[in-house]
Amino acid sequence: MRTHKIAAIPGDGIGTEVIAAGLEVLAACAKRDGGFVLDVTHFDWGSDYYKTHGVMMPANGVAAMRAYDAIYFGAVGAPGVPDHVSLWGLRLAICQGLDQYANVRPTRVLPGIESPLRHVNGGELDWVIVRENSEGEYSGQGGRVHRGLPEEVGTEVAIFTRTGVTRIMRFAFETARARPRKFLTIVTKSNAQRHGMVMWDEIAAEVAAEFPDVTSDKMLVDAMTMRMTLHPQSLDTIVATNLHADILSDLAAALAGSLGIAPTANLNPERKTPSMFEPIHGSAFDIAGKGIANPIGTFWTGVMMLEHLGERDAAARLMGAIERVTADKALHTPDLGGVATTRQVTDAMLRALGWNQ
Ligand code: IPM
Ligand code: MG
Repeated sequence: MRTHKIAAIPGDGIGTEVIAAGLEVLAACAKRDGGFVLDVTHFDWGSDYYKTHGVMMPANGVAAMRAYDAIYFGAVGAPGVPDHVSLWGLRLAICQGLDQYANVRPTRVLPGIESPLRHVNGGELDWVIVRENSEGEYSGQGGRVHRGLPEEVGTEVAIFTRTGVTRIMRFAFETARARPRKFLTIVTKSNAQRHGMVMWDEIAAEVAAEFPDVTSDKMLVDAMTMRMTLHPQSLDTIVATNLHADILSDLAAALAGSLGIAPTANLNPERKTPSMFEPIHGSAFDIAGKGIANPIGTFWTGVMMLEHLGERDAAARLMGAIERVTADKALHTPDLGGVATTRQVTDAMLRALGWNQ
């Protein structure tokens, strides 16, 4: 029997609701498979922890994660705690501290779900966005001086390193190579940003030469938003900087029907440290505690986690169950225009997995 040690960090808001649902479904998946178990440890880190302890997690928090095979993360961000504090104190601290430099965001219009784009209902929109996850605009470099005075200055410095760009570019080409179309679109803004972004273009060309079987093209990020909207079928795998991919992935999630469905993986591809899996929707305090959060993003995130753990059969079975559940409009939560609850969707998943107890 294979045992995978999972650290669960539900975090804030609907994070606790969707992670609870996700763990139920993953446990059913493991039982159904029969070949592995998930040994789950819960961590109560987040904004409530901050209100009691003055920090989002203990000082040894990142180090403690190294004992696990994967991290299943809900969401972070709560009223009363500044967003930059909650974010840098937990999620970014883990991503950067464990060098999870590749953020992977698959986007697809699942069965039963409507894209806001006319004529798009499946195969026309099937993307994987690869987001640089360790530096760039999120490097945390900058500062403020002369606070409150008219001459106050604030800087926010984007840092791009040859090491950082080369490794994300190789990962993106490998991701593209593993998909049927073997096609990568490289996004920058190298017309206006003439240093780091031009370096991206140069490194992209160097790495492209290592992957003669992968076709690639280049887009400026502003034009990319139009291409995603007007010609979604012309795209497959996409690589972009930390901030550009953050923005493009929200657009992607909206075009695929709902932010409630979108999953993400924060990977250390070399597996020197545990990777972290989370839905991308955030803590959504407006609906927290109502039992109507869409758990599908967390289930799909679970698929990515099982794949990473090497449980390919269970991952495929879970994805199949997700698609059967989304195909039934009676099981759509309010973000998809339905009236189903988190509980109802979770129960339907357990039934679809053939495990209902
Ligand atoms: C995401 C989110 C985060 C990010 C927020 C919560 C800071 O938008 O995962 O896309 O920008 O990284
Ligand atoms: Mg985002």
